Amino acid sequence: MIIKNICILGAGTLGSRVALQAGISGFNVTVYDIQQKSLDFSLTTMQKILRQLHKSGQISAGQDLEVLSRIKFTLSPSEAVENADFINESVTEEADIKKKVWRQFGEIAPEKCIFTTNTSYMLPSMFAEDSGRPEKFCAFHFHDVFYSRVVDIMPHPGTDPALIPILEDLGRKLNQVPVLVKKENPGYIFNTMLMALIGAAGKLLTGEVASIEDIDRSWMVNFHMPMGPFGILDSIGLDTAWHVTHKMPDRASQAFAALLKSYLEQGKLGEKSGQGFYTYPNPTYKEQDFVK
Ligand SMILES: NC(=O)c1ccc[n+]([C@@H]2O[C@H](COP(=O)([O-])OP(=O)(O)OC[C@H]3O[C@@H](n4cnc5c(N)ncnc54)[C@H](O)[C@@H]3O)[C@@H](O)[C@H]2O)c1
Repeated sequence: MIIKNICILGAGTLGSRVALQAGISGFNVTVYDIQQKSLDFSLTTMQKILRQLHKSGQISAGQDLEVLSRIKFTLSPSEAVENADFINESVTEEADIKKKVWRQFGEIAPEKCIFTTNTSYMLPSMFAEDSGRPEKFCAFHFHDVFYSRVVDIMPHPGTDPALIPILEDLGRKLNQVPVLVKKENPGYIFNTMLMALIGAAGKLLTGEVASIEDIDRSWMVNFHMPMGPFGILDSIGLDTAWHVTHKMPDRASQAFAALLKSYLEQGKLGEKSGQGFYTYPNPTYKEQDFVK
C-alpha cells in the first residue's frame, strides 16, 4: 500500500508536531480539530518549529512555505478524511473522547485507510472495535517527533500483521526510528523504562536517601546525560507525572505522588511554569559546575 495522504485528528501539542513532520516528509496532510483556536495554535506551533529547524540548518530557506502548502487545517470531519490513506489520532488523552472519535471516523473514513492512535498510556484494543475495522487498527506512538525520534508500533491482538511492515516503513519516512511492541503494554517500551527510573528516583528522594541534585548528578555523570530524573520530570511536567504516579497503588509511588502534589499546589509544574524541582530558564543542572 502506498501512503500519500495523512490525516491527523487533534491539533494539539503532538498532533501539530506529527503533522508538521509529515509535511516535511512530503506527504499531503490534513489536520482536524473541533476547536478553531487549536487549529490556530497548531499553525503557530508549526511556524515556530520551522524557524528553529531553519536556524539549525535542518531545512533550507523557503522550504517552510513549501512544507506549509502541503498542510491543510479543517473543522470538517468529512473534509479531514477525504481520500485519507492513514489516520493518526492525537486527541485528548481521555478514553471516552477517543472512543467517540473512532466511532465517528470509522464510519466516514475511506475503506483503504489505516487507523492509528498516538495514545501515551492507553491500549489500542480499547478503541479498535469502536473504529469498526479492528484489523486496520494499531497504536503508532511518537515521543516529541523532532528531538526524541522513536515511534512505537504496538498492535492489539486483532491487528492484521501485514500492517506492521507498512507502519515501519512509514515511521522511517517520517524520520523516526520504529520499534515494535510485540504485545500490548501500557507505556510502550521507553515510557515503561522511564517510569522505572523516575519511580526509583522518587523513592530515593521521599526516603531521604539523597538530594534532588545528587540523584540527578549521579545519573548524569555515570551515563553522560544532559539531565537526570528530576530534570526530566520538570520537562515532562509535574502535573502529567502526578496523573501517572497517583494511580499506582504501592507505598513508594503514593509517597512520591504526595510530594508531586505539594509542588502542584504551589503552582510548580516544571519547566512550563518556570519552577519545578529546578528554576527556569536557567536550571542549575545546566551549569558547568553542577557535575564537578
Ligand atoms: N504531549 C506529549 O508529550 C505526548 C507525547 C506522545 C503522545 N501524546 C498523546 O497525544 C495525544 C494528544 O496529546 P497532546 O499533548 O497533543 O494534547 P493537547 O491537549 O495538546 O491536544 C489535544 C487536542 O485534541 C483536540 N480534541 C479534543 N476532542 C476532540 C475531538 N472530539 N475531535 C478532534 N479533536 C479533539 C483538542 O481540541 C486539542 O486540540 C494524547 O493521546 C497523548 O497521550 C502526547
